[in-house]
Order: sequence, then C-alpha cells, then structure tokens
Amino acid sequence: MLKDQVAVVTGGSRGIGKAIALMLAKEGAHVVINYTSSDEKAKEVKSEIEIMGGKAMIYKADVSNEKSVEEFAKAVYKEFGRIDILVNNAGITKDGLVMRMKEDDFMKVIEINLKGTFLCSKHFGKLMMKARYGKIINISSVVGVMGNAGQANYAASKAGVIGLTKSLAKEFASRNINVNAVAPGFIETEMTKELTEEVKESYAKAIPLGVYGQPEDVANLVVFLSSSVSNYITGQVINLDGGMVM
Ligand SMILES: NC(=O)c1ccc[n+]([C@@H]2O[C@H](COP(=O)([O-])OP(=O)(O)OC[C@H]3O[C@@H](n4cnc5c(N)ncnc54)[C@H](O)[C@@H]3O)[C@@H](O)[C@H]2O)c1
Repeated sequence: MLKDQVAVVTGGSRGIGKAIALMLAKEGAHVVINYTSSDEKAKEVKSEIEIMGGKAMIYKADVSNEKSVEEFAKAVYKEFGRIDILVNNAGITKDGLVMRMKEDDFMKVIEINLKGTFLCSKHFGKLMMKARYGKIINISSVVGVMGNAGQANYAASKAGVIGLTKSLAKEFASRNINVNAVAPGFIETEMTKELTEEVKESYAKAIPLGVYGQPEDVANLVVFLSSSVSNYITGQVINLDGGMVM
C-alpha cells in the first residue's frame, strides 16, 4: 500500500509511535523513527523493521526545538531525497489541577505537543510542498475534544493540534497535501500505565465498546490516512475511542 514511500514518525520508539512505525513499514514504507531518550529502544524498532525486510533510520531530535527539527528534516531529505508521510505523534503529559499547576508544567506540554507539531509540519511540510505531495497525520486526543479535569495543559495542547490541523489542511491543500488528526481515547501504553486503577475504571465505564484501545488500533487508522485510499479526506479529526465521544 505504501511501497517505497518515506514516513517520519515522531516519538516512534515506543507506544503508539512504535506501533505506527511498524505498521507503516509492514505496508512497505521506509520509516524514520524519531526519539529523544532511549537509543536502545529506537534501535530495537529499527531492527524489527529490518527483520521484516524494510528500511529504517533512527534520528534523535527534540521536536520542540526549531533548529533540531530543521536539521532533522535536512537529514531525512539527504538520506531519502523525499518525505511522503509525517506522523506527529510525540507527546507528553504533566497532569495536575489548574490551581496547583506550575507555569512550567503548562508550557512544557504546549511546547512538545503543540509547538512540536507546528515545527515538524513547517519543516517537513516545506519539502512536501516542493514535491506537491504529502500526508500529515497529527495525533491529538479525545481530551482535546471534550476537556478533562486535571489535564488542562494537555487538553489545551491537543485542542490546539486540532486547530492547527484544520489550518494546515487549508494552507497545504492546493499542494496536494492532506492533513488530518486522530483523536484516540484510552490506549494501553506506558503513558496510561501511570494512571490509578480508579481513573482507569472510570474511563472503562465511559467506553461503550467496553475495552481499552491498543496502539495497533491507532496505527491502522494512520496507515489508512497515509495511503491513497484516503485522498479525498483532509482537515478532519477522527475519534478512535470505542465510542467514548459521539
Ligand atoms: N495512550 C493514550 O491513551 C493516548 C490517548 C490519546 C492520545 N495519545 C497521544 O498519542 C501519542 C503517543 O502516546 P503514547 O501513549 O504512545 O505515549 P508514550 O509516552 O509511550 O510515547 C510518547 C513518545 O513521545 C516521545 N517524546 C516525548 N517528548 C518528545 C520530544 N520533545 N521530542 C521527540 N519525542 C518526544 C517519547 O520519548 C515517547 O517515545 C502522544 O501524542 C499522546 O498524547 C495517547
């Protein structure tokens, strides 16, 4: 489905990003795995892709730093000479009630989740514009759609990603670049492992399908949005949440 296309996945060394990287590779794409902390985990994903017969590259860069992102885009272009798919997946949480939330904790989440998505879309988008082709998929969250007590910074960042997605879709459409967002609900990863059993149970009750999502559920939708099958879809936010938000 994606034979020889070049895909960049930010925060691709674990969780949802890892599942996306593996699934894109399975569909034939060459995958660039961006990461910030664990060289070992990034290398593991790269070798999993190579074992499948695919081509992968790892690249350490903080998506919230413009200079790093600019160099990252140049490095990908130098290696592959093109970029077809960008998945803005890197994200963090720093939860707390607004009354106790420190300014730094608010800003850090906005910087990585929202500014990081903006910077990668800008610098990789520039290469897509020249090629007059591209697919950008931003990982938002249902929390960005409905809000969540204790996650004002995260909800604001993910709601920002939705506004950014729609604006980018309008700016890039004439260059044949589709920009969409995926809004996952509760997906079982390291990020959600940190939640208390009580919070997990309250989430479970709010999911009509009655089960948590898996990283592969998100990856399936990302593959769809990365392929020509979804050519007529742009500027959309697709909830992937077992029916939590309707
Ligand atoms: N797990 C869920 O239930 C859920 C639900 C909705 C949305 N999401 C979103 O999905 C994405 C992936 O989440 P996950 O659950 O796999 O979490 P995760 O913590 O396992 O993965 C996040 C990845 O982002 C990377 N990252 C963090 N800061 C970075 C930076 N500055 N530059 C580059 N990479 C950076 C991390 O190293 C990590 O690999 C996030 O954007 C998250 O907000 C997750």
